[in-house]
Amino acid sequence: MSHAIASDLNRASEKLTALTELFGFLLRQDFKNPVFSTSLGQEDQVITHHIASNTLPIKIFTLDTGRIFQETYDVLDITQKKYNITIDVFAPSQNALEDLVTKKGPNSFYESVENRKECCGIRKIVPLKRALKGKDLWITGLRQAQSENRATLDYFSYDEHFDIIKFNPLAKWELSDVNAYLKENKVPQNSLHAKGFVSIGCAPCTRAIENGEDIRAGRWWWESSKKECGLHTIKS
Ligand code: ADX
Ligand code: SF4
Repeated sequence: MSHAIASDLNRASEKLTALTELFGFLLRQDFKNPVFSTSLGQEDQVITHHIASNTLPIKIFTLDTGRIFQETYDVLDITQKKYNITIDVFAPSQNALEDLVTKKGPNSFYESVENRKECCGIRKIVPLKRALKGKDLWITGLRQAQSENRATLDYFSYDEHFDIIKFNPLAKWELSDVNAYLKENKVPQNSLHAKGFVSIGCAPCTRAIENGEDIRAGRWWWESSKKECGLHTIKS
């Protein structure tokens, strides 16, 4: 049913490209509680800029895992001040975190994929569930070109895991489009990008990449598998 809704929305929006058109289309639909999740990365800063400068009726939230970079907190701070907006912060459960770190130590994620998923579960997935509660549309900065997993991503998709329709307005953008937009609109961005970081997540799980490396190569670099944390299940 919801897959069908996403397909209908894709058919109706397939000719649109500009953010203004896409968000205009979105806001003419019947969504009561659209919400945008920002990691404060480059793509998300494009969307925040668009939402804030057009005062669109869309709430913005971020998941503060407790392990993000100081530079990312700086972007959070500067963005709220520049645009005079509130970005709601969702944090992990205190009990779950105390339990995890007491039992397994602060670096358990390096020891196995299972441990890493456990940490992402506690620090990201459970807070994301709370953030999406009662919402009927989830806006993301996902792009097709980010990874093989995301290559078939459309503007609209149904996320079975969270049972919600997603809107991915940058689905068809290249990284060069993102950078050009940020520059042209003087959008604040993470100072780590200038140091070779492209896709930025938690500090212990992100490294800079070398020229020619895949843009997600710096995420969970010690793992050979899929490089997704469970936030997004693209293929269903
Ligand atoms: S992840 O699955 O590898 O962590 P990625 O960093 O590519 O995701 O970001 C893809 C999209 O997921 C972002 O555009 C954003 O919508 C959402 N997202 C990722 N991390 C966060 C976060 N910490 N807080 C809120 N949203 C996030
Ligand atoms: Fe934990 Fe690393 Fe996942 Fe962050 S990215 S939640 S530190 S495993």
